[in-house]
Amino acid sequence: MKKIIIAGGSGFLGSCLTQYYRDRGWQVHILSRQYQEDRDSIYHIYWDGKYLGDWAKVIEGADVLVNLAGKSVDCRYTKRNQQLIYSSRLDSTHVLGKAVQQSQNPPKVWINAASATIYRHALDRPMDEVSGEYGTGFSVDVCRKWERVFSEIETPATRKIVLRTGIVLGKNGGALQPLLNLVRVGLGGKQGKGNQYFSWLHELDFARIIDFLINREDTSGVFNAVAPHPVSNQQFMKTLRMTCGIPFGLPLPTWILKIGAFLIRTETELILKSRRVVPTRLLDHGFSFTFPNSENALAEILTRREHKAERRIEPIWG
Ligand SMILES: NC(=O)c1ccc[n+]([C@@H]2O[C@H](COP(=O)([O-])OP(=O)(O)OC[C@H]3O[C@@H](n4cnc5c(N)ncnc54)[C@H](OP(=O)(O)O)[C@@H]3O)[C@@H](O)[C@H]2O)c1
Repeated sequence: MKKIIIAGGSGFLGSCLTQYYRDRGWQVHILSRQYQEDRDSIYHIYWDGKYLGDWAKVIEGADVLVNLAGKSVDCRYTKRNQQLIYSSRLDSTHVLGKAVQQSQNPPKVWINAASATIYRHALDRPMDEVSGEYGTGFSVDVCRKWERVFSEIETPATRKIVLRTGIVLGKNGGALQPLLNLVRVGLGGKQGKGNQYFSWLHELDFARIIDFLINREDTSGVFNAVAPHPVSNQQFMKTLRMTCGIPFGLPLPTWILKIGAFLIRTETELILKSRRVVPTRLLDHGFSFTFPNSENALAEILTRREHKAERRIEPIWG
């Protein structure tokens, strides 16, 4: 039985990956700061994400290590939250590196989460792994330091991959639910100018990309994990409305978004930054997306959410 270790595997992306590999008969070991019950070849191991401990033994003989640990960025960027956003990513990556280095039989491949937000606000041209330009500011700095810690860890027997992931769309979490809430109350128009790009990825393709990179032993380094067709925010919101059967949606100008973000304790950057990112290296290596277009991706996810063939979501005023 193959063995995958997922650090931070209790969250949204970890749950997608856990289900994907459990369905394929793998043993899944989740490193978590919470005590949880084991079930159906899914094992939970307590760690603190900072220091070496007994948990490190689980790395021994694993086929794959994936690190998804990190405090959610969906919060106000207060000093305290900023510090937690940094430390949860840098410390977990650093300590996993120590565990891999001290292992007698280390994992063959280690995939570390990273973010497509490392690239600059881009309206003019797509950003890929070769010609993409880095942005500035807090989020970009987190991404750069996170990748630097990972790249500085030497693991001669373990292939390392950095996954610069876009906004993953899925049934049970991530960015889709808040956008659906807006659509349902008639506020599903464009946000801000609406011309900012939205680099998204279907949750199944997220798991398939990881699987592809595990199996392709000739791959290492940075990969953008985004669908090949980023769309503008205006286009994305229109597709979401159409998929829900709600043709009309009021736009949300930037000043309203700023008030709303303050009230719900988050930041407008998550919506207003233009992420025009493309998966050039994945395509060059022959990866084929199950959901290259947002129309099909949203239709599939919403169908599963509603548990019925009829995709229409009733507006709450209906
Ligand atoms: N979702 C996306 O669209 C997306 C896009 C780009 C990049 N990413 C990155 O991918 C990773 C996983 O994303 P996700 O959406 O699955 O996030 P998530 O649902 O918030 O899960 C992240 C997990 O990290 C663990 N964690 C939180 N704070 C931690 C800390 N201080 N120390 C150690 N572990 C901590 C938590 O596990 P326990 O509480 O069980 O310890 C949590 O379940 C994150 O690093 C995120 O930045 C996500």
